Amino acid sequence: MVAPEAVLEWGAPAMNFKTIIEPFRIKSVEAVKFTTREDREAALTQAGYNVFRLRAEDVLIDLLTDSGTGAMSAAQWSAIMQADESYAGSRSFYRFEAVVRDLTGFTHIIPTHQGRAAERILFHTVLKAGDVVPNNNHFDTTRANVEVEQAEALDLVIPEGRVPHLIHPFKGNVNLDALERLLAEQGNRVPLVMVTVTNNSGGGQPVSMENLRGVRAICDRYRKPFFLDACRFAENAWFVKQREAGYADRTPKSIAQEMFSLADGCTMSAKKDGLANIGGFLAMNSDAWADSARTLLILTEGFPTYGGLAGYDLEAVARGLEEVVEESYLRYRIRSTEYLGDKLIAAGVPIIRPTGGHAIYLDARALLPHVPPLQYPGIAVANELYIEAGIRGVEIGTVMFGLHPDGTETPSAMDLVRLAIPRRVYTQSHIDYVAEAVISVAQSRERLRGYRIVSPPRTLRHFTAIFEPLA
Ligand code: F0G
Repeated sequence: MVAPEAVLEWGAPAMNFKTIIEPFRIKSVEAVKFTTREDREAALTQAGYNVFRLRAEDVLIDLLTDSGTGAMSAAQWSAIMQADESYAGSRSFYRFEAVVRDLTGFTHIIPTHQGRAAERILFHTVLKAGDVVPNNNHFDTTRANVEVEQAEALDLVIPEGRVPHLIHPFKGNVNLDALERLLAEQGNRVPLVMVTVTNNSGGGQPVSMENLRGVRAICDRYRKPFFLDACRFAENAWFVKQREAGYADRTPKSIAQEMFSLADGCTMSAKKDGLANIGGFLAMNSDAWADSARTLLILTEGFPTYGGLAGYDLEAVARGLEEVVEESYLRYRIRSTEYLGDKLIAAGVPIIRPTGGHAIYLDARALLPHVPPLQYPGIAVANELYIEAGIRGVEIGTVMFGLHPDGTETPSAMDLVRLAIPRRVYTQSHIDYVAEAVISVAQSRERLRGYRIVSPPRTLRHFTAIFEPLA
């Protein structure tokens, strides 16, 4: 096992120059494939005009997701080689558990193969039909895992969080009045309260510590457990450090620890701020809930000391959770996303502002006012970006969220195209290319047309739907 103290810190502290550089150098590279416009048109037609159905090798710059797509460090790879693959009681589990406990303070640490497995186990354990789960915004799988239990996933983000161009330092905040009202009026239907940090569906926007304390106080008043969807906890901690009074001198790790200390548990996808290609966990203080969760875990994921992961995955996550809170990493990470945002804003491209942590969100509804939401402006923009430049983003809008469990379809709050930036993967010149391509697509906006769905799957339709361009 690689002792943390034997590993060099990421990058150097701020030097005397203002250019923020990648706090690493590159030891191993992977070639990307250049294609022609004709190749891409053929590939997209073949894929039913759904970029999820493309072969990844036909994509030049893949901004589909920041999940599981990051580059691991040499320290993570070396920890992988040292892993213990024992079925029960593996050394790698205890290392993983120690790191997660040090960070979160929770009593029970339950590994899962990714975030949605933690969600499924938690929700199947605690929800019954007719329940309501409030959140700032549920992400797609979180919402689906609530709805599959015949419960309602209720989004209570502050009103500012639904207006793309509006500047607010913590657009991921929960509307505390609405949460209080829900608990006062229908508290018996709410088994737990969730908050997603950062708020992915709302633009990778942070939640302030003050807001989290407000949620905690309301949960205390109504005796409700409070869980974080913690996928991007480190990015949230960095925004708190930058934007919230009283946190400037704190380390990201201590801010993260304070954040977790306000909650009773969390679900986590280690594919994001775990800096790993796979992995996650469910953590909590409740003995009773943990007991039921572990029983379900054994049934579907694996023994509680590996939970669907290899010992080497547990090592990669443990090391990743230590690296992700390094200041030099977070400074570079958030700045490099903002760098792309700044270029697009300067060119007049409508995006969610301020720039979020892990992604740029193009406001497809504002970009294509001539394409109504039910003709999916987000799909039109995402597809054009692929055809034009080989870049893959993802629609976060009416296709992803517009279909309801009763089969009706309505426009979602926003129609966005997310360009998620994998961690430690692309360089500044890749990002310059992305900016140039997006600006070019924005300039040809009038040409773009909407789509219709020809094969609508019932749940999570965005993953597999087949589209047809409208004339
Ligand atoms: N919660 C949030 C806020 C997420 O963004 C995701 C995944 C999950 C839960 C589920 O985690 O993928 O490990 O099962 N988001 C990815 C994305 C897929 O592209 O944003 P998972």
